[in-house]
Amino acid sequence: MNLRNLFVAALCIVASLVNAAEIIRISTHETDLVFRVGNDGRLYQAYLGKHLKFESDLQHLPNGKEAYLTHGMEDYFEPALDVRHVDGNASTLLKYVSHTSNKTLDGATETIITLRDPVYQTTAVMHFVAYPEVNIIKTYTEITNAEKKPVKLAKYASSLLHLDAKKYYLTEFSGNWAKEAKMSSTPLNFGKKVLDTKLGTRANLFTPPMFILSLDQEPTEDEGQVLLGQLGWTGNFRFTFEVDEDGRLRIISGINPYFSEYELGAGETFTTPEFFFTLSQQGTQHASLCFHDWARQYQLRDGDKDRMTLLNNWEATYFDFNEEKLCNLMDDAVKLGVDMFLLDDGWFGNKYPRSSDNAGLGDWEETKDKLPGKVTKLVDEATKRGIKFGIWIEPEMVNPKSELYEKHKDWVITLPNRDEYYFRNQLVLDLSNPKVQDFVFGIVDRLMTDYPGIAYFKWDCNSPITNIYSPYLKDKQQHLYVDYVRGLYSVLERVKAKYPNLPMMMCSGGSGRIDYKGLSYFTEFWASDNTDPLERLFIQYGYSFFYPAKATCAHVTTWNSTTSVKFRTDVAMMGKMGFDIKLSDMSADDLTYAQGAIKNWKRLRPAILEGDMYRLFSPYDGAHASTGFVSKDKSQAVVFVFDTYPRYGETTRNLVLKGLNEDARYRVKEINLEPNKQSRLRCNNKVYSGQYLMTVGIQAFSANKLTSHVLELTKE
Ligand code: DGJ
Repeated sequence: MNLRNLFVAALCIVASLVNAAEIIRISTHETDLVFRVGNDGRLYQAYLGKHLKFESDLQHLPNGKEAYLTHGMEDYFEPALDVRHVDGNASTLLKYVSHTSNKTLDGATETIITLRDPVYQTTAVMHFVAYPEVNIIKTYTEITNAEKKPVKLAKYASSLLHLDAKKYYLTEFSGNWAKEAKMSSTPLNFGKKVLDTKLGTRANLFTPPMFILSLDQEPTEDEGQVLLGQLGWTGNFRFTFEVDEDGRLRIISGINPYFSEYELGAGETFTTPEFFFTLSQQGTQHASLCFHDWARQYQLRDGDKDRMTLLNNWEATYFDFNEEKLCNLMDDAVKLGVDMFLLDDGWFGNKYPRSSDNAGLGDWEETKDKLPGKVTKLVDEATKRGIKFGIWIEPEMVNPKSELYEKHKDWVITLPNRDEYYFRNQLVLDLSNPKVQDFVFGIVDRLMTDYPGIAYFKWDCNSPITNIYSPYLKDKQQHLYVDYVRGLYSVLERVKAKYPNLPMMMCSGGSGRIDYKGLSYFTEFWASDNTDPLERLFIQYGYSFFYPAKATCAHVTTWNSTTSVKFRTDVAMMGKMGFDIKLSDMSADDLTYAQGAIKNWKRLRPAILEGDMYRLFSPYDGAHASTGFVSKDKSQAVVFVFDTYPRYGETTRNLVLKGLNEDARYRVKEINLEPNKQSRLRCNNKVYSGQYLMTVGIQAFSANKLTSHVLELTKE
């Protein structure tokens, strides 16, 4: 070896030692995600698990699997990144370049790791934002094309995580309209399991972008290691869970690449959506508390603010209303004691009035016959009564029977050379087009400018993207699904910037669209059109794994009126409470009951809206259900108890509570009693220690069908 070669070899060794020493640690108080730079200069995920106490131990971690696997290199499983380079080469090799770690303004730590392909200079910049107290990590990737011409991104995941356990169980949330968030768990063995959607707008009609992954054992509430993950993308998503030949699991999360090969121009950067996850060592209950706290502190719009109770007119009137009927409903709202009246679908359209769901969408002028005094009159009437006024819109859609469609077919997503087919008689506007974005923003802006008294919007979205062709994108049709969502965000960003104090409900024919990026623009979401309280026990239970009560709208309606108004109201009280019912559908006693329940809900806000939610008994486990809420200072708690269809003579077990202060003493009082009824619970008005309540528990379940109890616990 000559002197020059010796020198180069020495340099290489030094470089590899420098790299090999590179350990990148992303930590919350409970979790560590550790990356190492290998001797080959690539980045490896060395660890994802329980927080490691001693920094000095990190050096012992083996490299593990490559962090952000690419197509075309040595890996034989699903890659995170697949770039078609200008010369037709489809391989990418990423080497570590640098990393930084900084505190963010909100107390999180952001770690940014830059990787680069030495041949094509393509960069992948991985971002990890760790929220230490609430044990959430947010991650996304920026991919930059450094070539002189456009490249195509065939796959562009937000995140790739590697896990290594003896067994894996995946819990998914599937469903359809009126049966959202059905939970089922399945073991993962060799091969792939994919959860995805290609519905575009009402993207989560069959499944929302969230999952629970349990390691070594089936998920339980209080034990075991579980990872809860969710993608912040209001559109097509895909999670790929792949177990390799050695039993190691990779989870790839991101936009669904289906019909979405994305062209990235020279020098351009593609920013993926954010993937949020928590890793709990104590089962799903703790993981949910982390998600709820994080959401209220960092992600949910106005997560730290109060919420308004409301009366909605949708089920009370459907499309059949006029000013008088609405004013009568406002009187009902006042009698009930709610904060707001919400006017739903059917208030607009003149050439094609919106008197059913087959006309008018797109023509956002008040129907003269129905509302001669326009929205002004309604805002005034609400104000006179001391309540707020909110309004429904579905601004991304158009009915072919509308003036908008006649004037602007070029704004509609529709195939130029085929017959149109319709989902709920409507089509989707092309939000990839900036002019359409202006139009959609203009709907909110016009209403707010003309009627500044509007205090709330319900933003609906009842159709998936159908007839998939954008007149605007021309030869870039594969950009439609991605650019649509970007267009939507740009509109929502403008709305939020101009109207920062305007609460909005995210709705999509129930919860056909719901995710945490969307919820950075919306204060709450409509969990389901199915308000049968028995069904809601399941639906709300499903969403509770990720969403706090203050985000989850729950209304009392006439669905399943074989159940009492008490039962229906008690179920709705576990969420952001509202009503969608005429008082004429309720007896005088029901009204008295509901009035009392609303007062109780308002009083119990420190527990229900701001406190910790505990799933005490799963509706999936039999004929009962129970959820408890404990205020952060543990001085107030409220427990909802339901008997659905117990068997004759069933032996009921004690209800064991959670989250209380062991050493404190709590008085248990049954509230929400129907007029002239006394509590028959033995625990009523007794004082127990927190320890007793959380160890022995109380007799609260019964073998009586369709009964419910609400217990208030007050620290003495
Ligand atoms: C679907 C929503 O989920 C309902 O609450 C209601 O707003 C209708 N759309 C109105 O068309």
